[in-house]
Order: sequence, then structure tokens, then C-alpha cells
Amino acid sequence: MRKGILSLTAAAALLTFGLAACGDDGATTAAPDGAASSAGAGAKTAGKVGVILPDSKSSARWETADRKYLEEAFKAAGVAYDIQNAQGDKTQFQTIADQMITNGATVLMIVNLDSGTGKAVLDKAKSQGVATIDYDRLTLGGGAAYYVSFDNTKVGTLQGEGLVKCLTDKKADKPIIAELNGSPTDNNATLFKNGYDGVLKPKYDSGDYKKGPDQSVPDWDNAQAGTIFEQMLTEQPKIAGVLAANDGLGNAAITVLKKNNLNGKVPVTGQDATVQGLQNILAGDQCMTVYKAIKKEADAASQLAIALAKGEKPAASGSVKDTESGADVPAVLLDPQAIYFDNVKDVVADGYVTKDELCTGDFADKCTEAGIQ
Ligand code: BGC
Repeated sequence: MRKGILSLTAAAALLTFGLAACGDDGATTAAPDGAASSAGAGAKTAGKVGVILPDSKSSARWETADRKYLEEAFKAAGVAYDIQNAQGDKTQFQTIADQMITNGATVLMIVNLDSGTGKAVLDKAKSQGVATIDYDRLTLGGGAAYYVSFDNTKVGTLQGEGLVKCLTDKKADKPIIAELNGSPTDNNATLFKNGYDGVLKPKYDSGDYKKGPDQSVPDWDNAQAGTIFEQMLTEQPKIAGVLAANDGLGNAAITVLKKNNLNGKVPVTGQDATVQGLQNILAGDQCMTVYKAIKKEADAASQLAIALAKGEKPAASGSVKDTESGADVPAVLLDPQAIYFDNVKDVVADGYVTKDELCTGDFADKCTEAGIQ
């Protein structure tokens, strides 16, 4: 207990110091170098924001949504920025961070590949007076000054409830559930699982559902997810519901189910409202996905980054507890939304995917049926 309080105070002191140091830095080192010139007029006194995305394979979102919305926000604010993707390579992640710092980044926003390497990057940044933001994934023990994400436990709760709804619709009797979890190195995967297990465990305990295979997919690797699910289904051919933690993992399971003529019969969940996930829903092969309005997440994070780049000390609306350090990290957490066949249209109406990319070929009729304008 005592230790907890001490480390919390230490973290708070560090936080204050870190932000103050950054503010000073931003004000005195804002030279109109290459960075500022790429930002255009009005950015002379602002710093530069470096963003490191994790990969482009574990989910389509990073390159199709996050990059786009972050870029738009930085451009609109006239703040210099550099967005790079580590392509799943932890060494590369650190190299990119070092280069960004050398090239004058005053704010570093990261989506870590794991907490260990994320922490190394954050430590280095902080030691150079660079302000830090954890974007989407919290770096455990990392001590980032801010965290911007969705309520990830709620994402999991929506997935659990979604699977229950789809199984109820199918009048499934004592279904055997398989769980295909996200990467064990991603704190979000832990939160998603807490959320859906909170819904499923009472069902297992009461005997309504039967707990089947339950496995994590290293690095959210979609190909590996297919192999894992294939083994699950071989060992337990009566799997009747699949809690897949995102659309990529869900699609891997659906591909295996298709080979066994089980697609559409066994509900599968997802997350990210990717074009593929939404098409799987329209086809009846996927039960639901969770839509996270990435524009809102990118806007919240870029607003913080822009303020920090200008040497300000922005306030965050809330905080989350870092379960490793015990520190409270100032945070912005947004609300996720469950998507089923009937409200796929909401995702289109929100501008996250276009009708053109979604309603191709055979999906055109399904789109009409789902009321997509
Ligand atoms: C994100 C998800 C994403 C997954 C794989 C998670 O940390 O919150 O949106 O699908 O990583 O990239």
C-alpha cells in the first residue's frame, strides 16, 4: 500500500516535471527549420510531432484510418509532423523513434508493439525533454504523459454481448465457445478479454454455455490466427460460437469455417469495422463488429499533440490506472459502438467507410437490404 502511494507521487512529480521541461523546450528550441517550413505559415513557434504506428497487417485501421485522420488534423493546425509505421518490427520501432528525436520532434506519439520496447522509447524521449502520448495502446510502466484510446473493456463487453445476442438469435443450445484473443503483449487485448469474459464467464458458470478453446494470437497475426483456429476446430468440431477479438482474427476464423461449411452457422465477432469485417457481416458470416470512431480518437490525440508542440500543457478529461506502475495516466477514453447487419449503415453515414468500397460486386444487393445509401 505504502509503496503504491509513493510510486504514485513519484509518477505525478515526474509527470509535472516532464511537461514543464517540454514546455520550456518547445518555446526555446522552436527554430524555423525544415520541420517548421513543411508545416506552412503560422507554425514558426511550434514544435514537431512524431507518430509511430505499429504495423499495417494486424488491422487495416492503422494505415487507412489513423494515418489519414492524424495527417488531416496536423495539416489543419499547421503543425509539422512525421508519421511512420514500424511494420511490426520492434527494432525498427526504436530506430524510428531515435530518428524522430534527432530530427527535432518535440512530441512523440506511439502505438507500442509491446510495453517493454514502448517503455524504452518513452524513457528516451522523456530524457530528451520530448513530450509523450500513448496512442490507442497503453504502455504498461511506460509513464507516457497522456493516453488516448477507447474504453477498451467496454469494447470487450460489446463483443461478449454481441456473441450472446447472435447465439440467442440462432437459438443455440449450450453452445461451445472458442476465444481467439489479441496479442498477449497488447494491454488492449487484456482489456478486451476482461470485457468479454465478464459477459461469458457467468454463462460458462451457469452451464448455459460451454467453455471451449481459448488462445491468444501473437502480435495479432492474422495468418497465425487461421492456423490456431484450424487446430481449435479439429480438436473441438462442435465449436458453436467464436469470440474473435478483431475483424482480422474473425476473418481468419471465417475462412476456416467456410472450408468446413460452417460459415453463417457459427457466429463470429470482430472489431474495427473494417471493410472486410463489414462485408462479412453483410454476407451473414460475421455476427458483429465494434466500431471505434477513429476520427474522434485521432482528433483527441492530435489536439493534445498540437498543444504540446506549442509548449502548452493541455488537460485531459480523465485518467486510467497503469496496472504495472500504479500511476494514474491523464487520459481521453472514447465510446465504442456495436455494429450488426442492421446498423452497418451507421458506419457509412459516419464517413468511416464509403458505400463504394463496401458495396462492391455481390455486396451491392446486401447493402440495399441493409439500407445503405
Ligand atoms: C487496437 C485494435 C486493433 C488491434 C490490432 C489493438 O490495440 O485497439 O483496434 O485491431 O490492436 O492492430
